[in-house]
Amino acid sequence: MKVLGIETSCDDTGIGLYSTSSGLIAHHIYTQDVHHQFGGVIPELASRDHLSKVLPLIRKTLNEAELSFSDLGGIAYTTGPGLIGALMTGACVGRALAYSLNIPGLGVHHLEGHVLSPFLGNPSLTFPFLALLVAGGHTLLVHVKGLGDYSILGSTLDDSVGEAFDKTAKLLGLPYPGGALLAELAEDGVSGRFDFPRPLLDRPGLDFSFSGLKTSVLYATKKVDLNDASVRADIARGFEDAVVETLVKKCQRALKTTGLKTLAVAGGVGANKELRKQLNQQLSSNVSIYYAPKEFCTDNGAMIAYAGWLRLSKGQCDDLSITVNPRWQLKTLKTV
Ligand code: KG4
Ligand code: ZN
Repeated sequence: MKVLGIETSCDDTGIGLYSTSSGLIAHHIYTQDVHHQFGGVIPELASRDHLSKVLPLIRKTLNEAELSFSDLGGIAYTTGPGLIGALMTGACVGRALAYSLNIPGLGVHHLEGHVLSPFLGNPSLTFPFLALLVAGGHTLLVHVKGLGDYSILGSTLDDSVGEAFDKTAKLLGLPYPGGALLAELAEDGVSGRFDFPRPLLDRPGLDFSFSGLKTSVLYATKKVDLNDASVRADIARGFEDAVVETLVKKCQRALKTTGLKTLAVAGGVGANKELRKQLNQQLSSNVSIYYAPKEFCTDNGAMIAYAGWLRLSKGQCDDLSITVNPRWQLKTLKTV
């Protein structure tokens, strides 16, 4: 079966094609730049941009794979969580295509797509595992027992880690979304000059909190000359060190609590080099670590095609109604 995946939950239009015989066949991502001037995603603009890009991108992906609509066996589209208008755009297109082609269509949970994304490119990964999902909208530690069988061990009490990266990047004058740029800047910085707090590490539990860390950076920026490039780089370094140490320690704690021996890292911040380096250095001696391929860390259609393919292959499909759930909780999914 060949499954077309459509991702439109936020500001990336992602299309993927996954097949039973060949795995991931093709994919394309269009990242909207219309929001950059506003320093954040404007929901209405996101929906409109998805609307104009989604069909051309589907055609481009099919053409590249030398396939036509009639080759498809199922359509998977993100139905939550995310921006309601953006989700509706992809869900309407996906549902309508499935109906017109007389094939099954299925709404996919965006975070399930992320959690399963390390399977793309890592054939030796197997259930169960601990997933560290570090994205723009979510920060989660999940005990992944099987498809649809997820226990949330920890989540953020305030900002997500991606948000903290983006807000700190903004304080340092970097454009939105600045996470990757901040990480680049940190490479030139010196560790230890700015020592920021490691939030909640002094307390038991697996939850995260990043808004206080961001506020500490704000106070620090008020006492220094931000025109000095080395100061900016050292702040970026100090911030990244604090985030990475917090994430690594929480993973260590979660692995100890659950007894799991496999860690899978997903989401936009999962592309962060320093995070990967520290996880490898500190955990890999007794834990197998798998990362989502970098191109599938941020939002993409491949992970939706893959998650959809897994479920459609087990006979799941939705009825003809088009329903999206902007606040869909991962823990409400049922074991398949
Ligand atoms: O997974 P994603 O697309 O977001 C959600 O689905 O919510 O991740 C986007 C986030 C943004 O906050 C972006 O700044 C951050 O991931 N990001 C990074 C890096 N690459 C992307 N943060 C730190 N280091 C990176 N290399
Ligand atoms: Zn995402």
